[in-house]
Amino acid sequence: MVQFSFTEDLYTGSSFIDGDHHRLVELVNAFFESMQGGEDSASMAKALHALIAFTGEHFAREEIEMERVRYVAALAHEAEHAKLLKQIVELNDMLDAGRKINIAAVAAFLDNWLRDHILAADMKLAAALKK
Ligand SMILES: [Fe+2]
Repeated sequence: MVQFSFTEDLYTGSSFIDGDHHRLVELVNAFFESMQGGEDSASMAKALHALIAFTGEHFAREEIEMERVRYVAALAHEAEHAKLLKQIVELNDMLDAGRKINIAAVAAFLDNWLRDHILAADMKLAAALKK
């Protein structure tokens, strides 16, 4: 069973960001489970919608913080959020269109999607919030 594991290196040290990331990981894993469990497409769609909704809320929370501290890299970080959100909305559109998805490829994509953003962008943001 493919699962995203929240490894030590993903802790940013910001409690609100880490708390949101734990919830994101739960939602990513719920979606993985729905893909792998041979569940019907309605359960997969439901799991993906929950992930998309929470992703939007989480990004908005980070963006409010960026504005509050006048974060220097806010524009680049927000652009990355927009790109990440677009990617999972596209995945959702593929599912809605009834396209067959490659579970391993989608799982690898979502794993990188979350891990890379946390390690590259969110670490820097969390460090700036601590100042
Ligand atoms: Fe972020």
